[in-house]
Amino acid sequence: MTTRPRHGNNGSPAAPRPPHATGAPFLPAQPPSDVDIELRLLMEAIYLKYNHDFRDYTGASQKRRVLYALSQMNMPSISALQERVLRDPNVFARLLQYLTVPVSEMFRDPAYFLALRKQVVPLLHTYPSVKVWVAGCSTGEEVYSLAILLHEEGLLKRTRIYATDINPDSLEKARQGIYPLEAVRNYTANYQRAGGVRAFSDYYTAAYDAARFDPALCADVIFADHSLATDSVFAETQLVSCRNVLIYFNRQLQDRALALFHDSLSHRGFLGLGAKESIDFSAYAGRFDVLARSERIFRKAG
Ligand SMILES: C[S@@+](CC[C@H](N)C(=O)[O-])C[C@H]1O[C@@H](n2cnc3c(N)ncnc32)[C@H](O)[C@@H]1O
Repeated sequence: MTTRPRHGNNGSPAAPRPPHATGAPFLPAQPPSDVDIELRLLMEAIYLKYNHDFRDYTGASQKRRVLYALSQMNMPSISALQERVLRDPNVFARLLQYLTVPVSEMFRDPAYFLALRKQVVPLLHTYPSVKVWVAGCSTGEEVYSLAILLHEEGLLKRTRIYATDINPDSLEKARQGIYPLEAVRNYTANYQRAGGVRAFSDYYTAAYDAARFDPALCADVIFADHSLATDSVFAETQLVSCRNVLIYFNRQLQDRALALFHDSLSHRGFLGLGAKESIDFSAYAGRFDVLARSERIFRKAG
C-alpha cells in the first residue's frame, strides 16, 4: 500500500503555502524554471493524493532523482509523470523507489558503531529496559547492525527497536532480512572495524547468492510506517539513530525531525546522525550536547 494513512497531521489536506515556506528552489529575483514549477506541482499532487510529503526535501537532489526517474520510466516530462502518478498508484509506487533513495549498508561508517559500543552502550546498561528508534531504516541494514551490536553487548534481550520508514517495499525487505551474499561479505570488514567480536557469518545463513540474517535478532523489532515529515512522536526512547535521512531535507524539515527526536528521547537520551549531518545550525543546536563529534553522536541536554 503506497497511500499513507492520514495520522499525525489531523488528516487535513495540504494548505496552500507560499513559495518561501516550501524549500522549493525559488529565488525572489528570478522566476523559477518550468522544470522547477513542474517539480513543485508534482510534489503537491503526491501529497494531496497519497499523503506522502516530499515538499520540504532539498530541491537540487530531488530534481536529480525525479529527472533520473523520468529517464528510467520512459516519461517525456515531469507533467506527464504527474498525470500518470495521479491515475495509477503503481506508477507512484515505482516513483517512490527513486524519491526515497533506498540505499544502505551494514555497519556503515564503522566508527559510528564503535562509538555507540564504547560510549553509549555502557550508559544504556543502566536502564532496566531500553527502547531504540531507527528512523529512516530503509531495507534494514542499520537495524541488523544495531541488533548485532546490542546482542554482543548483552543488551538485545531487554531492548525493543522501532524501525520506521515511509517506503513500504523497503520495510518489507527489512522484515525479511535477506541480502545479497556478496554485499554481506563486504560488510564483514565494516563489522570488524566497528568492534565486532565474532565471525560475522555467525549471524546469517547463506543459500545460493543470498544471506538470511538470524530472525532472532529481530524478535523485538517493530517495523512500521512513520514519516518524519507528517507524523508525530510515538515512543519514549533512549537512543534515536537517524542516519543519512536529514541530508535530503531542507532546514525547516530538518528542524521538524530534530523536534521529534528531542521529544521522543528520554532524559539525557542519545541521538546518532549520518556522517554528513549535523545539528550545529539547526534550531535544536542548544538542546543537545556533543558526545562524539566526528561520529555524529549527541546527547539530549539536561
Ligand atoms: C539513504 S536511506 C538511509 C538508510 C539508513 N538509515 C542508512 O543510513 O543506511 C534514506 C531513508 O530515509 C527514508 N526517508 C525519506 N524520507 C523520510 C521521511 N519523511 N520519514 C521517514 N523516513 C524517510 C527513505 O525511505 C530511505 O529509506
